[in-house]
Amino acid sequence: MARIVAGIGSSHVPAIGAALDNGKTEEPYWKRVFSGFEKSQAWMRETKPDVAIIVYNDHASAFSVEMIPTFALGCAAEFPPADEGWGPRPVPVVKGHPALASHIAQSVILDEFDLTICNKMEVDHGMTVPMNLLFGKVDKNAHWPCLVIPLAVNVVMYPPPTGHRCYMLGRAIRKAVESYPEDLKVVIFGTGGLSHQISGPRAGLINSKWDKNFLDNLSKNPQKLVKIPHIDYMREAGAEGIEMVMWLIMRGALDDKVDEVYRFYTVPASNTAVGHIILANRSRAARKSAAKSKRPAGKIKRAAALAKADRVRS
Ligand code: DHB
Ligand code: FE
Repeated sequence: MARIVAGIGSSHVPAIGAALDNGKTEEPYWKRVFSGFEKSQAWMRETKPDVAIIVYNDHASAFSVEMIPTFALGCAAEFPPADEGWGPRPVPVVKGHPALASHIAQSVILDEFDLTICNKMEVDHGMTVPMNLLFGKVDKNAHWPCLVIPLAVNVVMYPPPTGHRCYMLGRAIRKAVESYPEDLKVVIFGTGGLSHQISGPRAGLINSKWDKNFLDNLSKNPQKLVKIPHIDYMREAGAEGIEMVMWLIMRGALDDKVDEVYRFYTVPASNTAVGHIILANRSRAARKSAAKSKRPAGKIKRAAALAKADRVRS
C-alpha cells in the first residue's frame, strides 16, 4: 500500500530560484534563506520518498486568465519547466507518476471533488522553487530525486477554493494514496505564502505574527485554520497571502496529530515572508501498537522512532 509519510510547507518566491540559478546563494541576503533549508535537505535525503505530490499554484504560465481550473492534477509522464519571461529555469524536466496520478484522479473525483485532469502541463516557480529548496540544486541534465504529481490550485483569480475545501481535498487525496496497491513512500507539499502583497498601495506587506500563528495552528490545531475566510487572509496576510490555503491541502492529507520535525521562518525574500515546515505522520506501526496497549501519547514518539529504526535496518 502507498502511504503519505510527511507533509512539507514551503514558500515559492521566484527570486529564490533566480538566486540559485545565478550563483548567489553565498551572498548574505540569500545565505540567510538557503541555510534555513539545509536540515530539510538532509531530512529529505534520509526520507527518500518515491513520489512527491506537490500542491502549488501556477502564475499564468501553464494557464492564463482565459482558463483557470480550480484544482488541476498533473497526470502526464513529464512536466517541463515553463518560460516565465527569462527562458525556462535551468532545472530538470519534472517526471510524473501517471499511474498513481490517474488513480488519485479516479478516487478523488468519485469522492465528488471535480479535479481537472492535465495530460500536458508546464510548471513554473510555484513548483520548481520549493523543489530546489527541499532537494537542493539539481543539474538541468540530471534527475530530480523522486517522481512528482503536481496539483495546481487557483489562487490567482477570484474565487479561489476555501480553506475548508482544500483541507477536505487533502483528506480525499490521502484516502486515494492509501488505496493504491503498490508500496510507495509518498510526501505531500503545500507551497506558496507566507504573508506577502506584491502590488497596490499595500505592496510589501508582511505580517509575521499572523504567519507564526498560522504555522503553530498548522502543526497543532489545523481545525482553527480551516474556518478562516478569504477576506482574513487578504486583510492580514496581503493579497498574495491567499496562497496559504494550499498548505491546508497538505495538512488535510496528514494525521490529525503529527510530529513537527522542523520549522524555519525568515523575512523577507524579495517581497515575501519565507515559511517552511515539515510535519511527519506517526508511523502506522507505532499508532497500532499505541492503540493496542493504550499507552500515554508521549510514548508514541518513541514507538515511532523504533519503527523508523526498524525500517532503516530492514
Ligand atoms: C513574489 C512572491 C510570489 O509568491 C510570487 O509568485 C511572485 C513574486 C515576490 O516576493 O517577489
Ligand atoms: Fe506566488
